[in-house]
Amino acid sequence: MKRSPTSTLFKLTLAAIWLAGSGSLPAALQPVDLRCEYRVNPLGIDEPQPRLSWRVESTERGQRQTAYRILVASQPELLQREVGDLWDSGRVESPETVHIAYAGRPLHSRQQCHWRVCVWDRNGRSTWSEPARWTMGLLSPQDWQAQFISFRDTTPLHRDRATLFLPPARQYRREFVLSKPVRRATLYATALGIFELYLNGRRVGDAYFAPGWTDYRQRAYYWTWDVTPLLRRGRNAWGAWVADGWYAGYVGFGLLEGIGTERIGRYTYGKTPAWMGQLEVEYTDGSRELIVTDAKSWKVTGEGPIREADFLMGETYDARREQSGWSSPGFNDRAWEPAILAEQNGPVPATFYEFQNPTEPGRGPEIQGRPIDLGFRPPPRLESFPGVPVRVVQELKPVARTEPKPGVYIFNLGQNFAGVVRLQVRGPAGTTVRLRHGEMLHPDGTLMTENLRRARATDTYILRGDPQGEVWSPRFTYHGFQYVEVTGYPGQPPLEAITGLVLHSDTPLTSGFECSDPVLNRLFTNIVWTQRANFVDLPTDCPQRDERLGWTGDAQIYIRTATYNADTAAFYTKWLRELMESQRPSGTFPGYAPFPFQHGWDFGTAWCDAGVICPWTVWWVYNDQRILQRCWPAMTRFLQWRKSTSRNDLGVAHGNDWGDWLNQNEPTPLDFIDTVYYAYSTRLMAEVAQALGNRRQADEYRALFRRIADAFTRKYVQPDGTLTVDTQTAYALALFTDLIPPAQRPAAAQRLADKIRQAESDTHSGMTTGFLGTRHLLPVLTRFGHHDLALRLFQSRKFPSWGYEVEQGATTIWERWDSYTHERGFQNPAMNSFAHYAFGAVAEWMFRVLAGIDTQAPGFAHLALRPGPPEPDPAAAQPTLSWVRAHYDSIRGRITSHWRIQDGWFEWDVTIPANVTATLYLPVWDRTSPTESGRPLRDAPGLKLIGLQDGRAVLSAESGTYRFRCRWTP
Ligand code: BGC
Repeated sequence: MKRSPTSTLFKLTLAAIWLAGSGSLPAALQPVDLRCEYRVNPLGIDEPQPRLSWRVESTERGQRQTAYRILVASQPELLQREVGDLWDSGRVESPETVHIAYAGRPLHSRQQCHWRVCVWDRNGRSTWSEPARWTMGLLSPQDWQAQFISFRDTTPLHRDRATLFLPPARQYRREFVLSKPVRRATLYATALGIFELYLNGRRVGDAYFAPGWTDYRQRAYYWTWDVTPLLRRGRNAWGAWVADGWYAGYVGFGLLEGIGTERIGRYTYGKTPAWMGQLEVEYTDGSRELIVTDAKSWKVTGEGPIREADFLMGETYDARREQSGWSSPGFNDRAWEPAILAEQNGPVPATFYEFQNPTEPGRGPEIQGRPIDLGFRPPPRLESFPGVPVRVVQELKPVARTEPKPGVYIFNLGQNFAGVVRLQVRGPAGTTVRLRHGEMLHPDGTLMTENLRRARATDTYILRGDPQGEVWSPRFTYHGFQYVEVTGYPGQPPLEAITGLVLHSDTPLTSGFECSDPVLNRLFTNIVWTQRANFVDLPTDCPQRDERLGWTGDAQIYIRTATYNADTAAFYTKWLRELMESQRPSGTFPGYAPFPFQHGWDFGTAWCDAGVICPWTVWWVYNDQRILQRCWPAMTRFLQWRKSTSRNDLGVAHGNDWGDWLNQNEPTPLDFIDTVYYAYSTRLMAEVAQALGNRRQADEYRALFRRIADAFTRKYVQPDGTLTVDTQTAYALALFTDLIPPAQRPAAAQRLADKIRQAESDTHSGMTTGFLGTRHLLPVLTRFGHHDLALRLFQSRKFPSWGYEVEQGATTIWERWDSYTHERGFQNPAMNSFAHYAFGAVAEWMFRVLAGIDTQAPGFAHLALRPGPPEPDPAAAQPTLSWVRAHYDSIRGRITSHWRIQDGWFEWDVTIPANVTATLYLPVWDRTSPTESGRPLRDAPGLKLIGLQDGRAVLSAESGTYRFRCRWTP
């Protein structure tokens, strides 16, 4: 098109006028942080229509995206020329920045996809993002030429509960020649077991415990790496370490409880680990070569240094057996055996013991054995790993070393966490250094291991005698610990002998919380550390004892908090597959997922509801409709089960009676809890149905919720608003789920507050709630006008409380309020984890209520910002909170809230990310005083006063940063 000079001149003049008026050129909206299926430049995607997301940034108030255009190209050069040969979305008038499903040419296995997005701002200006990429994985079983290989396993099946069976990790190797220069090389691999791969002596990637835990009888994940830089023309070598992992090693409390294969808690899915890898090489001339696992070209040995490798028991490494150069070309592997096809090990008949639900009324679940075959079976489905890898995320230096007994050294790493240590040592060959791990010490300074139960948690290193010194850390185990006991060290170990390697699924932290009470700041740190210690491939209950299971009750209580603390979207995407897969034949969900064996009943009230609560939360926080679609059939079956087990629209006492687990001597009957959760799951199902556009079902679930609420009212609500089940947890749950008729809610809340006050004493905080009640306690108190009491509990240092734990020296959240007390020492030694996240669910209230960062629409598209400054509390024992500063990196960008009370003024700074709107609830004690950046509210750009509500000015706000100020005269 030919430009008319006049129009250009006109535009220039306009721009000049504009510039003169505003002083500077307004920043364009910048698209950043491009992601595909939640991850940055992921490889091996197997979604046929991957979803693309970005964030937009701007320094301008009220800036928003009005349109976007996505280009996806097979070559990066095409993108530069603005050509999307795979997909050009064209200009789409839309503010959406998350989960735009690819809609271009069908994507094939191995497809390289380069993409960028152009966004238009509210003034019609546009900006391109930097390019990003993803690759497609192996989409069909036919893409796999590789075969599962293994070693010839001649060990008899271990059947003895009194002794451990800990086989060595195996090393596999092969060499191959690449005849031409390599353009690109991609490695795909999976295992029944866990593995670590090497090419030419260099480690492939940095993940621990790949490919992750699934029910291998149904499914396994494969991983994809770009290994181009690791290969060279000519001779190459490929090595693999393979260990038992969850597939064949000790899992959960199987050994302790005498369940699983032969009642020994190992060989859960099979006897002999196997693995499969496919290396695809593309030469610069366009030709391709495949190097795969097969029976003819691979060798294997079990004579290498890793003599034992088990999650629970630990690792033993004999450095004298190291075979230097084993994964490089030219290594002499004549002493190694040929690898075999995994199936060649043949069938392995065994008996698998687990509990069965009773079939006759009046009986409980009983252990029964059934014949199984532990021989190799290929997982019926291979899926690309959708989560994030477990990695070393941080290193910790010891803060102290003691010697409670001669030659027994205790290293204190200053923080309870999950991971392993790196050992540095120099000494004669054959010297054996033993490392035991524990979370606490006995009063005499020795390691406390009673709470580990059958988890041996011991790593052993045998020196090769290198005069230069030796450095080692285990690969195939992890422990939950703060203290390491070192014995057998040659001489006195220096502080540098031990370094803590913090391991967890690499979910980037997304928030910060600080306030005027230092104990609460430590509490927040403790919550985050507990989450990190339990996000190891799956959300576990605890990292230390012989459990580490994906307990569903803990997960549903904590998931919302987890999403504040870290970017958990991909992590939960992975685990929700395991949760859906673990659905029981009846339609309920089990107590933990994966579900390696049944213990007791196959479900528990409030644990099973994770099957609805968790997908709902991932949708709500990340606007993930697809996860709802995927989980919908299983969720629907679950609601059918809930309906079929209910009586007269009420829940019943059934399944495992965990109830308000670990409450303080105030149990709440199971049928009450079951009714509440039946109602809660039903209400969430109505929202899910609505979100999926299923109006009829949404109406049905809403009607069902009303019926349950009516039945609940008839059975439990008395005319004066009190409940016939008069426990703190009962009130917290019923008020949270809106099961009490509106008119009686204030009275019910008052009763809850009175109960807490009655229970409060000089030595008791007044709180009696367990896992279930605690999450809802403070939110309910605040919502119904008892914010002062909520804050008092929150700041309490009395038993039981969060502050109490901190003051006892906790660095993580404990399983029990009284895991340790000065008077009584350790609680119940066998059930006493110091890293259980359930009580850390209070962080949800810290963000949503205290800082006031919440959303009113899925995916933080429209925020509810409502800070929670203190109300006067004459009974408060701690200084009143005077400020809170918090931020949360939502899927649409950083939200901050910082309030402070100073010299009779309340000041509040908030940031709303670009392209996001918010409703603000500004506390106003004096209607005339509020200002924003020094102006009366009505003059502030981007703000609109909507009205007044419960002593708050309700404002609608566009994106940007605001500073409010208002007289504080509560
Ligand atoms: C776990 C819990 C879990 C519970 C069921 C425990 O052993 O550690 O966190 O939810 O069992 O009551």
